[in-house]
Amino acid sequence: MIDFDYWSPTYIAFGKGKESRTGELVRQFGGSRALLHYGGGSAIRSGLLDRVKASLSAAGIHFVELGGVKPNPRSSLVEEGVRLALAEKVDFLLAVGGGSVIDSSKAIAIGAANGGEWRKYYVGREVKVRPVIPAALPVGVVLTIAAAGSEGSTNSVINLEPENLKRGAGGNILRPKFAVMNPELTMSLPPFQTACGLADMFAHLCERYFSPTADVALTDNLCEAVMRTIVLEGAKVMANPNDYQARANVMWAGTLAHNDICGAGRVQDWASHGIEHELSALYDCAHGAGLAVVMPAWMAFVYKADSARFARFAQNVFNVGHGLFDDEAALEGIAAFRRWLKSLGLPLTFAELGAKEEDIPLLLKTLNLGANTLGAFRPLTEADVASIYHLCL
Ligand code: NZQ
Ligand code: ZN
Repeated sequence: MIDFDYWSPTYIAFGKGKESRTGELVRQFGGSRALLHYGGGSAIRSGLLDRVKASLSAAGIHFVELGGVKPNPRSSLVEEGVRLALAEKVDFLLAVGGGSVIDSSKAIAIGAANGGEWRKYYVGREVKVRPVIPAALPVGVVLTIAAAGSEGSTNSVINLEPENLKRGAGGNILRPKFAVMNPELTMSLPPFQTACGLADMFAHLCERYFSPTADVALTDNLCEAVMRTIVLEGAKVMANPNDYQARANVMWAGTLAHNDICGAGRVQDWASHGIEHELSALYDCAHGAGLAVVMPAWMAFVYKADSARFARFAQNVFNVGHGLFDDEAALEGIAAFRRWLKSLGLPLTFAELGAKEEDIPLLLKTLNLGANTLGAFRPLTEADVASIYHLCL
């Protein structure tokens, strides 16, 4: 295990009806003037937004609203949010939605606390050390989709216009102060969005599990347990979207997959996410759908770097490949992973995603790897990434 610092202060209010506590939580974490940020309409249609507003009013929180966050959140709305936050002198960002709304809120929180400056903290693979974010307003979350894990994470990912580059900012300062997590709120998700969420949270564990770090028994076991849970409980949710207990297990798995409890003390990979972000930037596809295409291709490309680890993944997560040589077991595990993604109705190829072979040079250009490498399990050159995009065909 390698040395680590771990600080995850997010207060979780989990269960039925917990959104009624939102106002009280904003106040508890120092807010009195909030910017209420939400997406394209699902929270309005479900009545959630009205319940949250009632809770804010009951707690005496003054608030202004900004809706319209799109999946793969855009920088133009962040700019609008920063202007509004500064003009209204808000002291708290309240995100009602999923990863896109939360990430947009985090970006506004940075801008509002740094005189409007937020964009320079969003960087790509060309930068080895992320710029330190000096300040950010506190962010609270009412989560409506189990997927990105942004409700407990240090990250924010924004689509920077006009270049259309998906870039990330990171730091403990971006961890939300609280997350309201009512599994019932996720029951209205279309099956495809539920599936994308399952793929994303599973990928967050893979990025940590496929590590070059030895002697990490505890986090190896944690990763496997959460991955198995996602597969088993995810199947229940896909079969019955109103299965509260399965929704609850999946929702908590999504947070544990990405608040780094499963990644502490390990060198992490994150190549698949880097490769995928170029796809969701260019094609505006769902991040989880892009990962369903990229992750198995990445696995097929890298497994020989440590086929024993992939054999263990096959056996302990998908219960296949027992009694085989490591290379064979590894391939069985990758095949089982593909079958699982297919069973969720997710795309597995560029064509199913709407991506095109002729765009590969553009994807490599926007990834902007240069002479750097991507990932740690098997560091990838630009030529390696090109091979992985070709395996996605
Ligand atoms: O906009 P509305 O109308 O709310 O619809 C959303 C959106 O269309 C819909 N939805 C959400 N909750 C719903 C619902 N529909 C019905 N009922 C509900 N309860 O779902 C769609 C997708 O929402 P989005 O927020 O985009 O999903 P997700 O949580 O998967 O977030 C994806 C974004 O997070 C980034 C991704 O790159 C992507 O931009 N990520 C953020 C991370 C982080 N901050 O730590 C890590 C991830 O790896 C990821 O990169
Ligand atoms: Zn992700």
